[in-house]
Amino acid sequence: MARRRWLVALAITVSILFGIIADSFDGGGGHPKQQLSMCAELILPAGYPCSEYMIETKDGFLLGLQRVSSSSLRLGSAPQRGPPILLQHGLFMAGDAWFLNNPEQSLGFILADHGFDVWVGNVRGTRWSHGHISLSEKKKKFWDWSWEELALYDLAEMINYINSVTNSKLFVVGHSQGTIMSLAAFTQPEIVEKVEAAALLSPISYLDHVSAPFVLRMVSMHIDQIILDMGVHQLNFKSEWGASLLVSICDTGLSCEDMLASITGQNCCFNDSRVAYYLEQEPHPSSSKNLCHLFQMIRKGTFSKYDYGILKNLKVYGTSNPPKFDLRSITKSLPLWMAYGGNDALADITDFQHTLKELQSTPEVVYLENYGHVDFILSLRAKQDLYDPMIRFFKSLGKSSSI
Ligand SMILES: *[C@@H]1O[C@H](CO)[C@@H](O)[C@H](O)[C@H]1NC(C)=O
Repeated sequence: MARRRWLVALAITVSILFGIIADSFDGGGGHPKQQLSMCAELILPAGYPCSEYMIETKDGFLLGLQRVSSSSLRLGSAPQRGPPILLQHGLFMAGDAWFLNNPEQSLGFILADHGFDVWVGNVRGTRWSHGHISLSEKKKKFWDWSWEELALYDLAEMINYINSVTNSKLFVVGHSQGTIMSLAAFTQPEIVEKVEAAALLSPISYLDHVSAPFVLRMVSMHIDQIILDMGVHQLNFKSEWGASLLVSICDTGLSCEDMLASITGQNCCFNDSRVAYYLEQEPHPSSSKNLCHLFQMIRKGTFSKYDYGILKNLKVYGTSNPPKFDLRSITKSLPLWMAYGGNDALADITDFQHTLKELQSTPEVVYLENYGHVDFILSLRAKQDLYDPMIRFFKSLGKSSSI
């Protein structure tokens, strides 16, 4: 009973990244509600036109994409869409992340209000993606991927698709893992040539200075290896098992009273009374292999492909170490805008400086001293702190200066 109360207390302070929701305590694993489309659940009710697309990656995953515009577009006689912009969410989140606060506070709505043609990405494994052409989600193979595939298959396909539908280069906005994916993808000339410019929130390529106590504890406990060895391939913190995993980590002597802060760093501008609503959406599932890949980056300080160990690396890559993603190979002609936070325990300042040093270009940079990792999408002040400057940056670039 005490344990149960403890779980409920946890659910209140829990993180957006590694959260638990109340429905994981009724013994059920899945989402309790009948699954609506993201447009129907979040965008249309706010009065914004929204359409759903489904695209297929080269390796057979079916991803949901949403396209959102401003309601005022419908009124004009010949609706003119602004430049396309793709929003790429972070780990254990999905496209809903950009629409979780009020329309005046949420980046997805704000961009639509500014006339952008807003496209919302959802990676494989999230509840807004649509499975696989042949693999069931119950199969180990379905979860056999990490952010490397999210970058080179999922993000690549989204960019291709939007580029071909709109016949235009696009802007990309990423948060957290969405920035890892973006930076990895931009090292590929055939992807970056379709991108006009990018804005990266909590930019990550190197992770060896992560300071989040909860994450460091998981790394030192080798949680990633343990769950893979147990045969757990899908990581779903909405399941009862996923929830008790978090509790067991706290039971090892780590204070988890403010779990959100112990994962993301102290967030300055969080709306505490909205947590229950956030947790209706988050967290989304990801793969255990992805966690393992991220922990490899924390342990080794590399921005490389997945490390299978020497023998399998030789077989997969032909080298004993996995190939690196070389930030220096990102074309200098890609305009970049980046925002990072002084309290961000995941995108650490030292790691961010490391990223900057390796880029050929000199990105426009915004530093927010009191921002934690989640503030970049959920801060109540994000519009003035971040989104307005980001939009000014996009509008300063040739194509979108007309909107
Ligand atoms: C915080 O969230 C609550 C609950 O959804 C909402 O009523 C309130 O307007 C939000 N506060 C701000 C400052 O937006």
